[in-house]
Amino acid sequence: MRGIYSHSLHQAQPRAEPQRREPDRARLQRLAAWATATTLLAFLVIGLGAWTRLMHAGLGCPDWPGCYGFLTVPGSDQAIALANARFPATPVIPSQGWPEMIHRYAAGLLSLSVFGLAVTAIRHRRRRTPESLRLPLGLPLFIAGFVTLQAAFGMWTVTLKLWPQVVTLHLLGGFTTLSLLALLSLRLWRLSGRAPESGSGPHPTRRPGAPASRGLLACRPWLHLGLVLVSLQIALGAWTAANYAAVACVDLPTCQGQWWPEGMDFRHGFDVTQQVGPNYLGGQLQTRGRVAIHVAHRLGAATVLVYFLVLLPVLWRRRGSYGLGGAILLVAALLTGQIGLGLANVLLHVPVPVALTHNLLGAGLLLSVVHLAWRCHHLPEPRPLRQHRPALIPRRAAV
Ligand code: HEM
Repeated sequence: MRGIYSHSLHQAQPRAEPQRREPDRARLQRLAAWATATTLLAFLVIGLGAWTRLMHAGLGCPDWPGCYGFLTVPGSDQAIALANARFPATPVIPSQGWPEMIHRYAAGLLSLSVFGLAVTAIRHRRRRTPESLRLPLGLPLFIAGFVTLQAAFGMWTVTLKLWPQVVTLHLLGGFTTLSLLALLSLRLWRLSGRAPESGSGPHPTRRPGAPASRGLLACRPWLHLGLVLVSLQIALGAWTAANYAAVACVDLPTCQGQWWPEGMDFRHGFDVTQQVGPNYLGGQLQTRGRVAIHVAHRLGAATVLVYFLVLLPVLWRRRGSYGLGGAILLVAALLTGQIGLGLANVLLHVPVPVALTHNLLGAGLLLSVVHLAWRCHHLPEPRPLRQHRPALIPRRAAV
């Protein structure tokens, strides 16, 4: 974890040339703004992906990266005739092609922006000024590699006809890209001197920048566990959506009128060896499997809720004067909203706006936990206790 969160503010810092410092800082701030804009674009791409799925348009274009071999969705009679001759099994439906292509264009723009960030980070590093030497390089390069893999998953989503394993990994890849971009933005803002400084703010007993209490620092691993739980819950949600298990239970809090539905089959529902080949639009699993997936997602939500109901109040009591209050409240608010939207999904039978917001709030919740963990990671540490050494008695005095 340290490697991802940390930046080299703690590393040996070469001395600054005063005349170079200001232009470097301005450059860093521009780069941080660029990374933030790219994070927002990733959020948009995730939303467009969910919208494509909810419009049942995941196979709106049967090929990749073009659409029926064209750069845009075929529109003219001549283009549609040619497209239908190329793919006779899947005739053109423009209203299905456009959501898919808009998602692809936005994803293409996102990839360009990510590659631009990586190239700019390399160029900044080459300047070898004090600020540029502290610039994170591994993270933007890793994100560039990851986005390339994510594009491959986008291709397989189409060519393997919405095979649930790939659809789920594609969604998780999108959420991972978003989180890594958010971390990069946080690191760059901090490096450029614009991030909220830990230790600021009024507190009757603590000086700004004073070390955080051990109780507060002890919460870090629990926050990391919270991050793991939220990620697992997102994976369960993605599996629910990819297998069209949303309407397997339409009552609450019971499912099919029972607390533990009879005949539900977890082995069938979580069979990750479902064969490649059939068209998975609408799902292929039997009801007993879909009920198991749906119930697992509900149990996951209950686990996440209980976990944060314990952790957040503890963090709140120990938060001190490090400006963590807003970050804690944000996690609480997004978790409450996400649970509410999940319940609305069931009761209202998955209307598109609710399902779309449930997806985006899931991304927002993940980011809020990443942000809180990052803020806790950068709390000022207490100095290590000095070893007690017996006072040396000067020889003369001893004599
Ligand atoms: C911590 C809480 C929760 C998180 C992080 C979460 C996350 C997610 C995610 C990421 C998806 C996939 C969305 C997509 O692919 O577009 C999803 C789907 C779904 N979630 Fe949740 N969820 C949570 C709580 C709940 C609750 C409490 C319920 C209902 C009891 C619920 C019901 C659903 C349903 C029905 C779907 C399928 C929607 C569809 O097919 O579009 N979720 N969830």
